[in-house]
Amino acid sequence: MPNQFRYPISELQKVTKKVDELGIPGIIIFGMPNRKDEFGSEAYSDKGIVQKAIRKIKDGSDLLVISDVCLCQYTSHGHCGLVQEGIINNDETLKFLSKIALSHAESGADIVAPSDMMDGRVNAIRSKLDENSFEDILIMSYAAKFLSSFYGPFRDAAHSAPVFGDRKTYQIEPGNALEALREVEFDINEGADILMVKPALSYLDIIFRVKEKYGLPTAAYNVSGEYSMIKAASKLGWIDEKKAMKELLLSIKRAGADFIISYFALEYASL
Ligand code: PBG
Ligand code: ZN
Repeated sequence: MPNQFRYPISELQKVTKKVDELGIPGIIIFGMPNRKDEFGSEAYSDKGIVQKAIRKIKDGSDLLVISDVCLCQYTSHGHCGLVQEGIINNDETLKFLSKIALSHAESGADIVAPSDMMDGRVNAIRSKLDENSFEDILIMSYAAKFLSSFYGPFRDAAHSAPVFGDRKTYQIEPGNALEALREVEFDINEGADILMVKPALSYLDIIFRVKEKYGLPTAAYNVSGEYSMIKAASKLGWIDEKKAMKELLLSIKRAGADFIISYFALEYASL
């Protein structure tokens, strides 16, 4: 992905300083561990890359930090949940996700953002945080996350593609808007503070419906494939990159998103 980088801890503060100076209200972080295993244990280690990164960013800055909570970058099989005999074990996974969320909160994250799509994770994470006196840490739930081809560039960059099978037993089928709304409703009932729709562009109707129907803080994730398409077409001289970027972000806003997570953030804010 052009202009996107994986940063070592030592470079982090340079980037977050720029983010802060440009008036971007917050960042979301993803980890690239040195070691993967069956249980994704680097994801909840106190010495894990995300835990270290959060502490580093928060050292001397009050930039809002959102941490992505999932297993796929940390598991040897690349799935977002635990795999047992070739099947994703939803309920076992919840224990791990809540451990990850707690370790992020202990490191100083302001918002935890579960992106795994297991059923019941918002409830499991909320309970775990509350039991440990983190009542004020928010949950931004990837509530309507679709099974999408637009995640390709991210999976390449984060080495998080599943080694076998796909994510269709946990992510939402792209044709099913009603299932997306049901997923959102589960998350609201379980205590989600912010609802996210992902991807953004092919799912503007879902953003609109979620905002209209529930009126809660709604986020949209402008994903890697959406970013890369603009970059590629402009490299070929087929579209005006800046105009296309602005129009795209505007459309997400118009659809009803209160927050936009985007790889364009630095470029957009610089303009
Ligand atoms: C998985 C995860 C995905 C992305 C971030 N975390 C999707 C997936 O691989 O299913 C995609 C982000 C992007 O494409 O920008 N937890
Ligand atoms: Zn995942």
